[in-house]
Amino acid sequence: MDEKDDISHESTPLVKGSPRGKFWHWCKTHKLIVIPVVVMILLLPLLGLLALNKQHARADYTSPIIYPSPQGYGAGNWTDAYTKAHAMVSEMTLEEMNNITLGVVDGSTGCVGVSGSVPRLGFPGFCLHDAGNGVRNTDGVNAYASGLHVGATWNTSLAYERAVFMGAEFKRKGVNVALGPVVGPIGRIAEGGRNWEAFAADPYLDGILGAQSVRGLQQSVIASVKHFVAYEQETNRNPIAGEDNTTQSTSANLDDQTMHELYLWPFQDLMYAGAGCVMCSYNRINNTYACENSKTMNGILKGELNFQGFVVSDWAGQHSGLSSANAGLDMAMPTSGYWDKNQLANAVNSGDFNKTRLVDMATRIIATWHQFGQNETGFPALGVGMPPDLLAPHNYTDAKDPAARSSLLQQAIEGHVLVKNSNNSLPLNRPKVLSIFGYDAISQSMYNPDGTGLFKQDWEVLSLNSQQGMDIGSNAPVENPPQTAQGVLYVGGGSGSNTPAYISAPYDAIQARAYDDGTAIFSDFTSNEPAIVASSDACLVFINEYASEVWDRPGLADSKSDNLVSHVASTCNNTVVVIHNAGIRLVDAWIENPNVTAVIFGHLPGQDAGRAVAQILYGDVSPSGRLPYTVAKQASDYGKLQSACQAKDSKDPTSPQCNFDEGVNVDYRNFLAQKIRPRYEFGYGLTYTTFDYSNLNIKINATASANNTVLAPVYTNGTTDQNSKTDGVSNGGLQSLFDSVGSIQATIANTGKVAAAEVSQLYIQIPASYLNAKNPRTQVLRGFQKVTIQPGDSTTVTFPLRFKDVAIWDVVRQAWVIPVGEFKVFVGKSVLDTPLEGTFST
Ligand code: NOJ
Repeated sequence: MDEKDDISHESTPLVKGSPRGKFWHWCKTHKLIVIPVVVMILLLPLLGLLALNKQHARADYTSPIIYPSPQGYGAGNWTDAYTKAHAMVSEMTLEEMNNITLGVVDGSTGCVGVSGSVPRLGFPGFCLHDAGNGVRNTDGVNAYASGLHVGATWNTSLAYERAVFMGAEFKRKGVNVALGPVVGPIGRIAEGGRNWEAFAADPYLDGILGAQSVRGLQQSVIASVKHFVAYEQETNRNPIAGEDNTTQSTSANLDDQTMHELYLWPFQDLMYAGAGCVMCSYNRINNTYACENSKTMNGILKGELNFQGFVVSDWAGQHSGLSSANAGLDMAMPTSGYWDKNQLANAVNSGDFNKTRLVDMATRIIATWHQFGQNETGFPALGVGMPPDLLAPHNYTDAKDPAARSSLLQQAIEGHVLVKNSNNSLPLNRPKVLSIFGYDAISQSMYNPDGTGLFKQDWEVLSLNSQQGMDIGSNAPVENPPQTAQGVLYVGGGSGSNTPAYISAPYDAIQARAYDDGTAIFSDFTSNEPAIVASSDACLVFINEYASEVWDRPGLADSKSDNLVSHVASTCNNTVVVIHNAGIRLVDAWIENPNVTAVIFGHLPGQDAGRAVAQILYGDVSPSGRLPYTVAKQASDYGKLQSACQAKDSKDPTSPQCNFDEGVNVDYRNFLAQKIRPRYEFGYGLTYTTFDYSNLNIKINATASANNTVLAPVYTNGTTDQNSKTDGVSNGGLQSLFDSVGSIQATIANTGKVAAAEVSQLYIQIPASYLNAKNPRTQVLRGFQKVTIQPGDSTTVTFPLRFKDVAIWDVVRQAWVIPVGEFKVFVGKSVLDTPLEGTFST
């Protein structure tokens, strides 16, 4: 049952206190009824566990109701902010509180959302704006490397630095809340349209890089971590009005263990890092919309993870009034048909809605404003650098910091992954003749607001035809979406896109090299079967794989680009392929052709795409990116995790169901579980040198002993303030989950001839069977360290382990527990190449 339909909860005021005395007396006098009922209740979790074993056969999943919504109380470093917020909110009328919980229509800025304000008390409201890869749809900003590209860098300090510079741009533009970073989708399905916005198809890597991004962004603005939670496909992401029925959003159906160990995992790291805002997602979770799901918002986010900031809906992701408020939604964007006529204030007055909840909503919003110093003079005026229309006269706010330039280039460089390099064909060595092909080698033919209304600033949708553009505008499924985009793909499409001050295309950068080296360049960027100059030392082919918000990709490779590569390779015996890919891209159509000598996954490097790839092609730097996902040999190897769930496959197509019955085994875990050898495994990538691994040293503390347990704070009906009574709970939940339980070390030597960075990786196989034999517990990433090593040198890497890294989520005890048994340890260069192996036991 949808919580929305639960009228009793919707209309009953959530008041504290109950006639406990009478109840207790009744229990004593009805022991024969009470004792069996209590025994049943105690056994229920066990039955639940048994049911989980069978749940993959279950048709319907439901989300439990968790009321009331935990109140923010100023945990950890939020104490001051809450003191100030309480003082301010106590001065507000109910209408003012209601007003700041929703977006208002404001045509004076280009902010994608503007919240209500209380000018009388000095709260100007918030400008909320996209997104995680840079400020979108405006002028005077940089395009940073996209999430997936940063994932491919495996570089934590670079992730932090990127977010620091990006956050400062948001601030200079007068944006209060940056709508990013993205750690959901995780990348459950290979064709997911938004997988490129997040860092990796792995919760650990997503969590570490996402947390660094929160820390960096929040030096300047509030980070809105999105999309909470289990938002894994674009297909049917929003309800679609039909003739008879409205087709609801897809329901992500998942069990509690999968939720904790996979989809929630990175969010918890980002909450621990102190994120101030969370965006609830479009999908349903176990049949309840994410923005009215009391289990995920009240129970998990505000309860278990003790989140002190505010939850904002994804744009038009709110589908109910009091239900969404009672379930934990604090702000509805970009407007709200449910709250906009003072409905919340009126419902308090009529006794239908608990005032405590409305006060909590307002307090969370105002506390977050104080927490990040936005109440101080000096914070730019709301949306000051965000003109609503770039074609109309406006003051140009240059938000770019010249100090960001080297970081932008470094991010762009480090996310390139070299996967094939036969005969050391790369790096190029002062080539005499180069041929360059492919639609992706050059800049877009138009990079300008087109002034036609709907998409006048949406440069990112250039490759769509007008019908497709209209489909997006009307929230309808996009027919025949493009699989490639004209011009160098430096970012994907939709709200994660951005509009930099310049774009460096590969051809531009290689032309500059030709000048230095005296190289003759031939090129053809339009034909599918270009002529090839016989004296070419190398033929560079640039192709791309486009993806965008709103639709999932129609495939994992496109034949037009594949034919271009094969055509060039049929003549040129040194064909180097660069793919700018917004997600997994298969290469088996030509990878075994011996004339294809080198292949680089260039991902989405941001504005320095050309400059960065030139540095790698010419060997100024050794490639140091590693794949943050798995590239299969054929699409069918992903099995049911290749494509989105379709409504037509559900019993009731108006209520699309997507059963996540693979559990935690997505991406590389799926390949390990199914024993399928991929073409290029998770963590894989070549460089221009070689590395040797030795000296595995496993140091585990006594704290990691078997059955050591971290019980999560559990929120059930009754009290609203368990947080403050729970010791050791702060941002992110119980802090002991993040305590050290030891570390693992290894020595790495650079045995080649050039300096290069190695991404050393730690995988652990936890000794507990998963839910059933179909979903065995495979090895999982639990550490990585990127180190630059000079030729002939060696260094020691250390992988710190936190409690959560060696624990499993016990659904019965509702606790993270270190299981009994032997843990297997694997250290090396990728999930399938781990020269060092060992064990420890608990
Ligand atoms: C919808 C997208 O899902 C979200 O990521 C974005 O922040 C909002 N639109 C606002 O553009």
